[in-house]
Amino acid sequence: MAKKRQLFECQACGYQSGKWLGKCPNCGAWDQFLELTASQQEVLKTTSKTASSTQKALPITEIKEERFARFSSNDSELDLVLGGGIVPGSLTLIGGSPGVGKSTLLLKIGGNLAKSGKKVLYVSGEESLGQIKIRANRLDANEERLFLLSEIKLEDVFDELYKEDFEVLIVDSIQTLYSEKVTSAPGSVSQVREITFELMRYGKEKEVAIFIIGHITKEGSIAGPRVLEHMVDTVLYFEGDANRELRMLRGIKNRFGSTSEVAIFEMTKTGLVSAKDISKKFFTRGEAGIGSAITVVMEGSRPIVLEVQALVAQSGYPNPKRSATGYELNRLTMLLALLERKLDLPFNEYDVFINIAGGIKIGETAADLAIIAAILSSFRNRAISKDTVFIGEVSLIGDIRDIYNLDIRLREAKTQGFVRAIVPKLPIEQIENIKCFEATEVSKLIDWM
Ligand SMILES: Nc1ncnc2c1ncn2[C@@H]1O[C@H](COP(=O)(O)OP(=O)(O)O)[C@@H](O)[C@H]1O
Ligand SMILES: [Mg+2]
Repeated sequence: MAKKRQLFECQACGYQSGKWLGKCPNCGAWDQFLELTASQQEVLKTTSKTASSTQKALPITEIKEERFARFSSNDSELDLVLGGGIVPGSLTLIGGSPGVGKSTLLLKIGGNLAKSGKKVLYVSGEESLGQIKIRANRLDANEERLFLLSEIKLEDVFDELYKEDFEVLIVDSIQTLYSEKVTSAPGSVSQVREITFELMRYGKEKEVAIFIIGHITKEGSIAGPRVLEHMVDTVLYFEGDANRELRMLRGIKNRFGSTSEVAIFEMTKTGLVSAKDISKKFFTRGEAGIGSAITVVMEGSRPIVLEVQALVAQSGYPNPKRSATGYELNRLTMLLALLERKLDLPFNEYDVFINIAGGIKIGETAADLAIIAAILSSFRNRAISKDTVFIGEVSLIGDIRDIYNLDIRLREAKTQGFVRAIVPKLPIEQIENIKCFEATEVSKLIDWM
């Protein structure tokens, strides 16, 4: 008889091996390897496959489109990032560091949905019912159709689920639940995977929309959420500093929509509310300091005017320091090298620090020009005119490249009261009240500052 293949798995990171190991070669954790049982191996196989093998191939022309009857979460920001609302039977993972606002958002959403007639179950393994009630009072989420359950055993959660016909299930958090079927500790890779698999099976069968909250620690150690990404339909991660009021909920994966949209919230006493007038949160008008420059970035379909800051200071070290918050460090190093070459500036003797206001992370290159302007402003100790925005990508050879959605960005800058824009190329249509100047090369930038 053929011997069953043994498979061991690190409970900290999910690394798999054919034999038991003391130390995980992937994450370095000690004594974390557990042998997977036959049924766990089965779960693994099922979750890595999307269709059953008994199905027959069909010509694409004969296949009908799937229609998703979405319903609104009654929160315009969440609807936006979900791709237009909640899909029944879908499973959404919401990750983020502790204190960022996951429970706050989902309790409020639970309240919203209950108010609109949906029957919602909120399962918490983190807090007592009394604690959640206090939060619900604050968030105005006291709704008859919102049910709370304080439970950490998955089997007991299912008992409850089968008693009533809930339409939405919220699990706070995946790391606190455990299933009796798995021997390892709550929060371990086998546990979170088994629980997610069981919930997914239930959700798809009963057409229940499920939200799972997962903690992610600062170091990015993610026994949990990351190993689930490939299983679930949608993955949203919270960004933003717990000490600041702005939070961004970014789509990482979405089987039912685009991942380019970002929900932007503000943390208030009554919970996370849609950040009205988003643009005004990321810059202060009229306070142009030395080392500060304004640009316009796109977050999904929305333009955001924001301030980038640079500090350039004579270095006391043989290797000068470079640091960037909210901007890619490699890109900063590249821009500095370019400035040394093109403008003959001795940045190898200076420390350079970059910060993006409001805790936003810039993921596009259109802010390059503003970064350079801020660096030059700090280096020359001269403030830039407070009426100017800088928009443009800088290439390795020092020319300034065209960027997409220039007209949308310029209109937003105009709305926010800016009258001058330094851009790669003049827009085809002149925009009223904002004068554009074409900067084709980094060396020309100084002329406009
Ligand atoms: N009474 C309150 N008023 C305003 N904000 C509060 C209040 N209580 C808690 N918060 C905010 O809510 C945050 C906690 O959010 P929470 O949803 O519990 O985070 P998570 O579930 O992601 O760990 C705290 O960081 C705090 O900023
Ligand atoms: Mg919480």
